[in-house]
Amino acid sequence: MDGIEQLRTAYLERIANAQSADALELVRVAALGKKGEISLKMRELGRMTPEERQTAGPALNALKDEIDAALKARRAALEDAALEARLAGEWLDVTLPARPRPRGTVHPVSQVMDELTAIFADMGFSVAEGPQIESDWHNFDALNIPPEHPARQEHDTFFMHRAAGDNRPPHVLRTHTSPVQIRAMQAQGAPLRVIAPGRVYRMDMDQTHTPMFHQVEGLAVGRDISMANLKWTLEEFCRAFFEVEAVELRFRASHFPFTEPSAEVDIRCSWEGGQLRIGEGDDWMEILGSGMVHPRVLEAGGIDPEAWQGFAFGMGIDRIAMLKYGIPDLRAFFESDLRWLRHYGFAALDTPDLAGGLSR
Ligand code: PHE
Repeated sequence: MDGIEQLRTAYLERIANAQSADALELVRVAALGKKGEISLKMRELGRMTPEERQTAGPALNALKDEIDAALKARRAALEDAALEARLAGEWLDVTLPARPRPRGTVHPVSQVMDELTAIFADMGFSVAEGPQIESDWHNFDALNIPPEHPARQEHDTFFMHRAAGDNRPPHVLRTHTSPVQIRAMQAQGAPLRVIAPGRVYRMDMDQTHTPMFHQVEGLAVGRDISMANLKWTLEEFCRAFFEVEAVELRFRASHFPFTEPSAEVDIRCSWEGGQLRIGEGDDWMEILGSGMVHPRVLEAGGIDPEAWQGFAFGMGIDRIAMLKYGIPDLRAFFESDLRWLRHYGFAALDTPDLAGGLSR
């Protein structure tokens, strides 16, 4: 039958060239729709002689099936291409490894520094800093510890090296955070309220001493700041830090060259059953030294002692970390033993704040 071969070639070509589902549908209607070319041809079969029909019938059916199959194949190909294009546009690499849980932890000393900073910040103290390699003048003289003063021997100082023939006093690894008092007064003047947490160094090593340890200095200078303000500040701090309402502090008269009067402060605690409890029991644990800033220290900081007065304290950070978190041996703090760090460390993303609770 004439025309079948032309129809076949023409439609297979149009199908192959259709670039979208819509274009392909137009081709389908033109060929196989009610008034499509192939449909019309099939309708002509009725008007043929039986002999003509015998060859034309199967040929037309074969053509219809072939065009049908070509349409389906092309539709599938167009859908695949559309999906490819979408996937290329919405690219996501599912072979990337899932993010592992962070393995590091926050060291208890860092945790405690964050906690005490949050508490003192709430009371209006800002953080001051000074160098760990400190001048002899800042570490001693300015704090009313002149050369030959016996307190210099008590500090077990590490001295830095000076070139031969250089007779100036050598720099020292600061033996306490008190030199930051001088630096803060010089930088800010009065009135001021600062804390200075940081590392300090003394040549000492046993169960309760390491050559490097941590202190936090506190300094408040104003017109009429008194021991009563010191006492309230420290009690308020301990209540917030140890998260115990019933803290009890004991002020013991003491002596420091840079404060007058001076007091050491102990906290009431119990060791019953080998477990430490703050605020109960008959034991006292020393946690800090304190006092009213000596007039000569104010002067060294550039502040007029006739017009201003203030309190200062220096607290052992490692000591209060051991107390709060029940850590028995100080030396283990600085051995970098991963098992110890995992056991006593804190989750990296839990930053302490007063509203959320300091130690969750
Ligand atoms: N600097 C003292 C020490 O290291 C502590 C202290 C600080 C005492 C401030 C009084 C005032 O022991």
